[in-house]
Amino acid sequence: MKKQIVGVLLGGMGLLLFLSLNQGSTADEVIPEEIGMILKSSCYDCHTSGARSEDAKKAVQYDLWDDYSVTKKIAILGKIGEVIEEDKMPPQKYQENKPDRKLTEDQKMQLLDWSKKESGRLMQGN
Ligand code: HEC
Repeated sequence: MKKQIVGVLLGGMGLLLFLSLNQGSTADEVIPEEIGMILKSSCYDCHTSGARSEDAKKAVQYDLWDDYSVTKKIAILGKIGEVIEEDKMPPQKYQENKPDRKLTEDQKMQLLDWSKKESGRLMQGN
């Protein structure tokens, strides 16, 4: 399992992705509501299956989260942590054009915290 994860991480993992609100079969699989709200306001414009940016969709489509394999989810969660820490998402230009969509420090903490906990949970096979 570990090897697989590393392989996916290194392998430039084709598709990344994210979430879908209130659609999971079990409560555990669903992205928590407060996280979903952040993603909706700051990330959905580009990262959903209906968005126009092919690059963004290749990276993550939040509305398809439930369909991703565990390995893929873990890989994406790691990427999310990275882009948040490095302030790469939403893209600078978007932040300039839509200052109200910028992540607040509090929202960043929430996303980071969730991405770490969720990937830890998935790695333990729960
Ligand atoms: C204005 C459109 C736009 C918005 C809004 C946006 N993204 Fe992205 N995102 C992109 C594009 C385009 C890419 C692919 C190119 C790149 O990596 O820069 C991307 C790539 C990514 C990646 C993959 C990065 C990698 O290194 O593989 C992640 C993870 C990500 N976005 C997360 C987010 C999160 C989380 C948010 C909200 C906080 C968000 N994005 C908001 C356009 C957007």
